Amino acid sequence: MKPTISFHGSSTDEAERRRSLRRLPPAFRCRRRSVAASAVFCCLMLLMSAGKSEAKCSFPAIFNFGDSNSDTGGFWAAFPAQRPPYGMTYFNKPAGRACDGRLVIDFLAQAFGLPFLSPYLQSIGSDFLHGANFATLASTVLLPNTSLFVTGISPFSLAIQLNQMKELRQRVLEMGPEGNLPPIEIFNEALYTIDIGQNDFTSNLASIGIEGVKQFLPQVANEIAWTIKELYDIGGRTFMVFNLAPIGCFPSFLTSLPHESSDLDEYGCMTSYNNAVNDYNILLNQTLQQTRLQLQNCSLIYVDTYSVKLELFRHPQNHGLIYGTKSCCGYGGGAYNFNPQVYCGNSKVINGMNVSANACSDPQNYVSWDGTHATEIANKMITMAVLSGSYFDPPFPLAQVCDLNPIG
Ligand SMILES: *[C@@H]1O[C@H](CO)[C@@H](O)[C@H](O)[C@H]1NC(C)=O
Ligand SMILES: *[C@@H]1O[C@H](CO)[C@@H](O)[C@H](O)[C@H]1NC(C)=O
Ligand SMILES: *[C@@H]1O[C@H](CO)[C@@H](O)[C@H](O)[C@H]1NC(C)=O
Ligand SMILES: *[C@@H]1O[C@H](CO)[C@@H](O)[C@H](O)[C@H]1NC(C)=O
Repeated sequence: MKPTISFHGSSTDEAERRRSLRRLPPAFRCRRRSVAASAVFCCLMLLMSAGKSEAKCSFPAIFNFGDSNSDTGGFWAAFPAQRPPYGMTYFNKPAGRACDGRLVIDFLAQAFGLPFLSPYLQSIGSDFLHGANFATLASTVLLPNTSLFVTGISPFSLAIQLNQMKELRQRVLEMGPEGNLPPIEIFNEALYTIDIGQNDFTSNLASIGIEGVKQFLPQVANEIAWTIKELYDIGGRTFMVFNLAPIGCFPSFLTSLPHESSDLDEYGCMTSYNNAVNDYNILLNQTLQQTRLQLQNCSLIYVDTYSVKLELFRHPQNHGLIYGTKSCCGYGGGAYNFNPQVYCGNSKVINGMNVSANACSDPQNYVSWDGTHATEIANKMITMAVLSGSYFDPPFPLAQVCDLNPIG
């Protein structure tokens, strides 16, 4: 891992890019050569062909759909308020992210020269000129059958997030580009990112087990594919779909899901759960291959973040980290520093003792921030790996195709 990425773009290029971003001309997008455009299906052709023309691809906006892995403040805008120590590393206060700092979507926006994405649900101070973030913590792909107040599942599932996207576009159609709204062309030119499904996989795992969860995973993959087609119908042409993480390495699940010690691999991750995630990822990959055949003239990229995260959990030392399956913020110490009864930032009386789940002093040495979510440092490494293009299916050198800014 740790692929080397050559970033480019001088500061004058950058100034020009920012000016053109403000102007938002319709031509601001991946330049497509007419040869490539003639008979391509939804594949990498457009991005690839952009590499051959003089102008590099860039995106004026990102529209993101997801859960806590990419929520930049939506959930906590709807249901205030998040507590410290969230945000401690970068924002120095809770910033609506399930992290000590920035998420992959934050670094991705930075790489494409865009500001942090405003959550669609945030009514104060939002700016949708460069996209919007529909992700909320605890969101599922499938419609939830339960309430936030019963099981902690977000009401903003993928279908709702899609409706919000359509509503945003409808407002732009009605009102034109005014205030904090983008011009209508942006819906064709934007990058659409989808990073969701982890809660469909995990929320019922303890009660129905792997075999139970497997029953509805095809529905999850199909719903993602359907969402891409809907986004295509409203103009979307470039999509990145992130696969699911190796949850068998998460301190939260290592301490809460039933398993035999024989299920642990040499890195201390649960084989059965990781294999089940892997099976789902294969299904997702296959489903997206089908979707590509059905849609013309677009780019649909499957992003294998599972492999990147697994590598970090397995060999943290190889990447300048110390702890893999141990949580930075948690209670209990030991191998996992996680207690399912008291989450990061909370206190609880356990056995007559008032205990608190606090942050470690060195999150830069951990993969896992709070037992379930990655640290900022891990998110940065994951983004570097993603931007290298090596984890795309099929792999291609994104940095050679698109203008990328350094992240950090
Ligand atoms: C909710 O229930 C419906 C109908 O039984 C089912 O199709 C759907 O998959 C369920 N959703 C979840 C998230 O369990
Ligand atoms: C996705 O599927 C294709 C075709 O079956 C395969 O070649 C590729 O290796 C798969 N990618 C990943 C990351 O599993
Ligand atoms: C593909 O997209 C390009 C750029 O948006 C457009 O000019 C071209 O007409 C499209 N081709 C087809 C076959 O739809
Ligand atoms: C437990 O400790 C926390 C942090 O010191 C404090 O905020 C909270 O009020 C205490 N709770 C109880 C029940 O004493």
